[in-house]
Amino acid sequence: MNNLATTKEQTSRYQVTGGTPLHGAVTLSGAKNAVTKMTIASLLTNELCILRNVPLLGDLDLTIKICQNLGSQVVLQDHTLSLQTRDITRTCIPSDLGGLNRIAVITVGPMLHRCGEAVIPVPGGDRIGPRPIDFHINGLRQMGANVVEKDGYYHFTCSDKLHGTTIKLPFPSVMATENFLLTASLAEGVTIIENAALEPEIIDLIKLLQKMGAIIELKVDRRIVIEGVDQLHGASHTLLSDRNEAVSLAIATYLTRGDVYLRGAQQDHLLTFLNMLSKMRLRFEIDDEGIRFVGDGAALPAVALETDVHPGFMTDWQQPFTVLLTQADGISVVHETVYEDRFGYTSTLKQMGAHIGLYTKCLGEVPCRFREKQYAHSCVVRGPTPLKGTQLSIPDIRAGCSYILAALCAEGTSDVYGIEHIERGYEKLDGKLRSLGARIERLVLV
Ligand code: EPU
Repeated sequence: MNNLATTKEQTSRYQVTGGTPLHGAVTLSGAKNAVTKMTIASLLTNELCILRNVPLLGDLDLTIKICQNLGSQVVLQDHTLSLQTRDITRTCIPSDLGGLNRIAVITVGPMLHRCGEAVIPVPGGDRIGPRPIDFHINGLRQMGANVVEKDGYYHFTCSDKLHGTTIKLPFPSVMATENFLLTASLAEGVTIIENAALEPEIIDLIKLLQKMGAIIELKVDRRIVIEGVDQLHGASHTLLSDRNEAVSLAIATYLTRGDVYLRGAQQDHLLTFLNMLSKMRLRFEIDDEGIRFVGDGAALPAVALETDVHPGFMTDWQQPFTVLLTQADGISVVHETVYEDRFGYTSTLKQMGAHIGLYTKCLGEVPCRFREKQYAHSCVVRGPTPLKGTQLSIPDIRAGCSYILAALCAEGTSDVYGIEHIERGYEKLDGKLRSLGARIERLVLV
């Protein structure tokens, strides 16, 4: 077993026995990568914000704790989250809250607007590379914030109201775009974000902000223009569904030769993924309520794919898709262009029987920031290879999900440790898989 790091990680595990085809229907949860940002957006107003269709997962719990620490009143009932922050009563996020994921970095704008200062821990998050926050810091500085790093914390202050500016992102970063959307909504004057990310979760955040009174325009060529307003008000919003959960469950269906209907799967958010399925001659049927995925067991052709920012093939789909490629016939190639170090999980797939080689060369055409650097950011998969159950230790959310998918199509039983990563990012993934017939148990050791 690789890196079974701590005793805590060993307390719970999933036991997965492969080989059972998935059948049935499940309803997707709301998007993880929207709910946390919208929860923080509620800090921009002293009025009540209501979020519906929120996914119940660890990252939301953590974000709620961050808001409560800052003074928010929070009620979570079923899948509806009500938040009101009449006053921000504290301007420091302790490291035991904010150091665990990266969400604290987008609390800076709301805190600066309402209190003139913000202290956040140097962020943590998944083990998928260095993940700096220099884009955030440079942009906030341009808007008038002063920043000092000391003792593991960033201290932000502003003597005057933050002001609009033109921020050119070196890369279309998701959270940096979100950070500037929140901050610019209440800034003095106009902010232009150039080379902005335009992921569906960002558009959904813009929809919430517009309901709160923000003025945000999407222009051509990845430009977003925000006219700052004096204040924002309460709003209610229903979240889009989670396209990462959709992809994971769709791939689980194909890997097990099953037949599953995903209620709430949205074609417009999955276009690139669905195109790749068509290239692999995989069957799906789209209707107004969702998408049916049908795995008939026919031989799959190998493909070449490259991750990219939206509307490209999402980096978070890369890991589950690579598991599918282990079952394709021939040589498939994957070029990861968003993160420099997101293939660590393949060594575990190799232990399960996959043939995967990593390369520092760009094996693709997307202009990539990692060209001629020594990052193993391309991989070649030779399939099909039967996979064997084993003991697995999860390093991050999406890698963890790919281990579960591999275990579902493997021969024998796998013990999957480190499941807190999965539970941070997916609402009851094990329960949903079980409802489709998967043999997956959640075992708690005492
Ligand atoms: N980057 C910088 N400097 C910055 C910010 C980003 O160099 O200041 C680099 C990153 O290192 C990375 C690239 O820009 O190479 C893109 O990172 P981005 O900022 O877009 O990522 P993020 O906003 O931190 C979100 C999702 C990730 C998802 C990426 C890309 C959330 C909470 N996380 O991260 O999701 O992979 O966008 O789509 O929204 C996950 O859900 O498992 C996950 C990791």
